[in-house]
Amino acid sequence: MSRRSPRETPRGVTARTVAQAKLNLFLHVLAREASGYHQLETLFCRLELGDEVTVRTDLRGRSLDCSGEAIPVGGLGPVERNLAWRAALAFSDAAGWPNDWAIDVTKRIPVGGGLGGGSADGAAVLRCLNALAPVPLPSERLLALAAGLGADVPYLTVDHPLVLAWGRGERMIALPPLPARPVTLVCFPFGVATPDAYGWIDAERASPATAPAARHLDDFTTWQRVSAHARNDFEKVVARHHPEVARAVGTLRRDASTDPAAFALLTGSGSTVALVSAASADHDRAGDGRLDGVASRLVSTRTATAVVGVEVSG
Ligand code: C5P
Repeated sequence: MSRRSPRETPRGVTARTVAQAKLNLFLHVLAREASGYHQLETLFCRLELGDEVTVRTDLRGRSLDCSGEAIPVGGLGPVERNLAWRAALAFSDAAGWPNDWAIDVTKRIPVGGGLGGGSADGAAVLRCLNALAPVPLPSERLLALAAGLGADVPYLTVDHPLVLAWGRGERMIALPPLPARPVTLVCFPFGVATPDAYGWIDAERASPATAPAARHLDDFTTWQRVSAHARNDFEKVVARHHPEVARAVGTLRRDASTDPAAFALLTGSGSTVALVSAASADHDRAGDGRLDGVASRLVSTRTATAVVGVEVSG
């Protein structure tokens, strides 16, 4: 009887999942490294809002098709720069498999807004390919690939909805998920380029802002405590460059002040501002609108209590 090598054992040819967006419930930019990168400390939380990602390995050639309501008028840019494509390439180089792939992304996460949409797609491709691979990569190798793709990608590759991350985003501790909360996202027709936002912080700071801090895991176990720490170091500099963001933050904070359980803050390096409301809040704000005279799109979603799994078929 001949023994099949593990590489010959098919695990399916199609994998699909939802690439969920993220919020940073706090984000501190710490010291700038000699490399130019910055040390971070952030509390990540997945949202229910997500892109649909499907990966097939049974077709000839390599392709990436993106469609959906969230694609900006100018498109998503070159395929080779798309994190979904770069993730497939990185996986294939590391695992020696697959040679061919067909990736399909239905975009629902607003693009360029600090919600981690591109990173979530890249992470979803890594998760899908690892679920299909005849010989899956061990989790530390998958995370190393993720870290090479960007600071948000390691978090978006793990199966935990609430994570405290530091370093360049590759050091993580999973925390017990918090109950779902309604979230209103104020999305602007412009994004903020992450390197610009780090540059604005560098220009503002005379010395690295690494004040000592002692945190307790209890700080992250209730929404009330999380809300007490909700702060994003990018907010001040991004608001200065984009007065619309400053106005949205002001308006949402006024809304939040009538509700002790609610808080509002910028996510990532912006431009999206998120209002996290009390569980009981009226939550039907959605669509194009003006918030205090500022053109924006409001998207309603919720914080996620679980990460959507990968479904394998074929
Ligand atoms: O990780 P991501 O691809 O989002 O980073 C985009 C850019 O933001 C990096 O090329 C770098 O200029 C800056 N960055 C940084 N420190 C980090 C993460 C990103 O300076 N920890």
